[in-house]
Amino acid sequence: MNITELLSLHPQFHQDENGEPISWAIGDDVLQFIADHVQRGSRTMETGAGMSTVVFAYSECLHTAIAPSPYEFEKIRTFCGRHGIDLGQTTLKEGNSETTLPSLLDTYDLDLFLVDGRHAFPSPYIDWYYGALMLDVGGLMVVDDTQLLTGAVLRDFMTEDPYWDSVMEFAKTSVFRKMSDGFHRAEWNQQPYIMNRQ
Ligand SMILES: C[S@@+](CC[C@H](N)C(=O)[O-])C[C@H]1O[C@@H](n2cnc3c(N)ncnc32)[C@H](O)[C@@H]1O
Repeated sequence: MNITELLSLHPQFHQDENGEPISWAIGDDVLQFIADHVQRGSRTMETGAGMSTVVFAYSECLHTAIAPSPYEFEKIRTFCGRHGIDLGQTTLKEGNSETTLPSLLDTYDLDLFLVDGRHAFPSPYIDWYYGALMLDVGGLMVVDDTQLLTGAVLRDFMTEDPYWDSVMEFAKTSVFRKMSDGFHRAEWNQQPYIMNRQ
């Protein structure tokens, strides 16, 4: 199965508020972008899980997905089993990213980090903070759901920040490249996003 065939399947890995199956997957164009920008052995991580997890596994990344939902992980395992996608290099970590990420800090030099877990304040910022620390210089940070205020603030901050380079804008997803380390030591008066609004 090629990536186009995989993306055309649109499985429903999530549940709505009534427990009915639904897909909250990021856009096919973003999934295609991810597939185009990783390779076998790329070190990747995401908050949340779903079709993105399948694409990382399909691409043979050394991948970690963090989500609190055993239901989603079971559906992902079943789907991958049915379609011959090997999850052997994928770690499905059950838990909230806010509390799980700090324990992973020493482990990774990531090539790509996807922020697509809980979208309420302040979760995307916590995901971003730890993800950015784990990302290698030159690595990609993908921020989903920039149509929401939480995602939009993160996108606007990164767009103006010298530690990040804007790589791609999708309808509700932004991609940035990490340009250097040290962003987490910058004071407020060294952050253009803050200074431009004083
Ligand atoms: C929009 S969906 C992710 C969609 C996925 N990227 C895809 O392409 O299918 C949001 C995900 O966040 C997960 N989630 C909810 N609260 C979370 C939390 N506190 N930490 C990590 N993930 C969380 C949900 O279980 C769900 O997998």
